[in-house]
Amino acid sequence: MYILGIETSCDETSIAIVKDGEEIIENLIFSQIETHKIFGGVVPEVASRLHMEVLNKIFKLAMEKSNLSLKDIDLISVTQGPGLVGALWIGITFAKTLAYALKKPLVGVNHLVGHIFANFLRKDPPNFPFISLVVSGGHTEWILVEDYDRYRLLGKTLDDAAGEAFDKVARLLGLGYPGGPAIEKAAEKGRLIFDFPKIKCERELDISFSGLKTSMLYLIKNLQKEGREIPINDLAFSFQYRVIEELLERSFIALNKFQTSTLVLAGGVVANKYLQKRFSEVSKRENIKLFMPPPILCTDNAAMIASAGYYLYNKGKVDGLDLSADPSLEIF
Ligand SMILES: Nc1ncnc2c1ncn2[C@@H]1O[C@H](COP(=O)(O)OP(=O)(O)OP(=O)(O)O)[C@@H](O)[C@H]1O
Ligand SMILES: [Mg+2]
Repeated sequence: MYILGIETSCDETSIAIVKDGEEIIENLIFSQIETHKIFGGVVPEVASRLHMEVLNKIFKLAMEKSNLSLKDIDLISVTQGPGLVGALWIGITFAKTLAYALKKPLVGVNHLVGHIFANFLRKDPPNFPFISLVVSGGHTEWILVEDYDRYRLLGKTLDDAAGEAFDKVARLLGLGYPGGPAIEKAAEKGRLIFDFPKIKCERELDISFSGLKTSMLYLIKNLQKEGREIPINDLAFSFQYRVIEELLERSFIALNKFQTSTLVLAGGVVANKYLQKRFSEVSKRENIKLFMPPPILCTDNAAMIASAGYYLYNKGKVDGLDLSADPSLEIF
């Protein structure tokens, strides 16, 4: 079965063709980052316009490169939400038009479910049940996944997502946008010089980044007031260390609490090499089966949407031509 995946929820325009939910035939990603960089963040209207300009072009390119014809496509899978409403509509309208013209089934996919399914694009995907940590630009959530279509939210951020915190702290440190990769790069040359306080929330599986951000802000201000040089690399490392240790600790609390031995990481922040190293070390020590997508499948891409669409379709999910964008779609 060939699945066409379409992803336009934020600032990546992506088209993929995936075979049987696991084998990537094509996964073309056009990143708008260079355009949004000028503004220091994603501008929704600009994102929608770029999706409109690019989507059809990369669809044609993907079809050409795959040597498949339109009639070979068996299923159309598209991101329904969460995301930017205008951006989502571009992908959904494209998907519905194709589904109607080709008389093929259509499935709307939750973008976060898509991130989790980036781990299913392989021969030996995770077995249920498992704990998933979705850690991206818009979300930080611990989810108990019991089946392809059964998700239970265990805990989440009470304010910023981890990726958003990386982006904001990078701005404070003058490291530019997007912040995650910039902090990671600076941190490679840094040391742990500042032990940011542990993050405490009422519920043990919730997290909050506002205190950490404020500590960083005051630390920088005080150093500036004293006329001292800002140790950017060391602060980047100290921040990255605290965020990752907190994510790690909660992931293992969830694994213990729900007696599961599989941990599935998903979302853009998983591209961070220090995160990968720490999660690998501790999972090995604790005998936990760890899944992490390759970096290209951590950030937004349509292959993960195609994979999720395949498994959900096999579970009986089909959408009609009344499928709507839902900017705050929940998975629970
Ligand atoms: N190496 C890295 N280290 C830390 N963070 C990173 C790294 N690479 C990317 N990120 C962060 O990941 C985020 C982008 O991830 P992703 O594309 O999954 O988010 P999104 O699609 O904007 O949000 P969501 O999936 O929640 O809607 C950005 O905040 C970026 O800073
Ligand atoms: Mg995303």
